[in-house]
Amino acid sequence: ATNWAKCSATLSDTSSETSTLADIDWDNLGFGFLPTDYMYVMKCARGESFSGGELRRYGNIEMSPAAGILNYGQGLFEGLKAYRTQDGNIVLFRPNENALRMRTGAERMCMAAPTVEQFLEAVKETVLANERWIPPTGKGSLYVRPLLMGSGSVLGIAPAPEYTFLIYASPVGNYFKEGLAPINLVIETDFHRASPGGTGGVKTIGNYAAVLKAHTAAKAKGYSDVLYLDCVHKKYLEEVSSCNVFVVKDNVITTPAIKGTILPGITRKSIIDIARSLGFEVVEQLVSVDELLSADEVFCTGTAVVVSPVGSITHMDKRTSFGDGKVGRVAQQLYTELTRLQMGIAEDKMDWLVKL
Ligand code: COI
Repeated sequence: ATNWAKCSATLSDTSSETSTLADIDWDNLGFGFLPTDYMYVMKCARGESFSGGELRRYGNIEMSPAAGILNYGQGLFEGLKAYRTQDGNIVLFRPNENALRMRTGAERMCMAAPTVEQFLEAVKETVLANERWIPPTGKGSLYVRPLLMGSGSVLGIAPAPEYTFLIYASPVGNYFKEGLAPINLVIETDFHRASPGGTGGVKTIGNYAAVLKAHTAAKAKGYSDVLYLDCVHKKYLEEVSSCNVFVVKDNVITTPAIKGTILPGITRKSIIDIARSLGFEVVEQLVSVDELLSADEVFCTGTAVVVSPVGSITHMDKRTSFGDGKVGRVAQQLYTELTRLQMGIAEDKMDWLVKL
């Protein structure tokens, strides 16, 4: 709050700009990048601690061509959302989980990381500075994208000598063009997203570059996204490029266990808790392709994706459909519970919302 007060004083010429809703078509937000007004930047030298973060006008950044992130992929990102609730508050959904996940990832990638408190303060400042870009209740959210970059120059393989923590934000609607209508996935049998001992379990930028080839090919064939299998047995589900996956059989919900190759999704974890609170049995274990294809219902979860029902899965050119083109009963129930909470309609019993 102190930094924000300091910043709004220095940016007082623009204060009215932060409160009036931006003039965009709020009814047709997709998941495309829309630049907003401010970004947050904080730096630190290797071996030291982050300090002196500040809001800046959103814009391009300067970086050494020899930066660790540009040459060796020493980078992490996070994704979280700010919502305008129906009673007029602005809330963040479980931002401390993102802060902790970034710290875990930073340890894996040999990077300096902001403290949980610094992360939360920076996210709050960024959201408040871009308040006019938070969609009206029910029309979407402000997607907040924290980045952690090895910004110092390196030539040989080594952790970068300087780190930059940056947050920008963009208003978003549905990730998939289908909205809550079921999506069509294809199982990838040649390429893999992650391997044991690799970085699949952290949100490093390279994990997302690695899926582009299969993802692009799948999109060209009309699929919404790609479902990856484990690279050892080529048999067990891992995750979709953009989200985690769940299957439902005889009212039991199963999702691949977190074992280092799967991203520990915050929506995944929240949906497990919500489902259990609704009385469902939820199991985290290996899920084979056969179990997937014989499921009653399949759905995906993620910050960007929220809860997305799966209408069909294609494996080795054979298509298996679920739910006759309709949203599954369990996916619908979980989607409703989660979004009612995020919109401030349902009571926040688990204390997941952080009010700004
Ligand atoms: C998110 O859900 O926030 C992600 O980071 C996934 C990304 C592919 C948009």
